[in-house]
Amino acid sequence: MLTRTVLGAMVDIPDGVLTAVETAIDGEDASLIVYRQGDRLRAWHNVCPHAGRRLDWSPGRFLMSRDCLLVCAVHGASFETDQGRCVAGPCLGERLRAVAVSTEDGLLVLDLAQQPKSP
Ligand code: FES
Repeated sequence: MLTRTVLGAMVDIPDGVLTAVETAIDGEDASLIVYRQGDRLRAWHNVCPHAGRRLDWSPGRFLMSRDCLLVCAVHGASFETDQGRCVAGPCLGERLRAVAVSTEDGLLVLDLAQQPKSP
């Protein structure tokens, strides 16, 4: 199993915008949500804990509320963008599944051997 995967260039990850990155994990297609705020990076599987669907309304396009919650486009569950915890909607209290990402030489790297850092 590959534990480290280059996901792309950091210049393609806009600051302050929820972004989808498509990759493969253990040979299976996987979509990740990446959220960059300056030097701070967070990432989760693009799978809603409510019904297992993608959260984006169109590939790579996510809803964000005025108070900066990630809103699932399917049934409206709202997630904090720091911990990925659902604070409203049908999966209240559940969490998006976080993955560890980092930057190296201008690249965005997924590291499955690491636990995601807490904010
Ligand atoms: S699948 Fe996301 S709220 Fe139902």
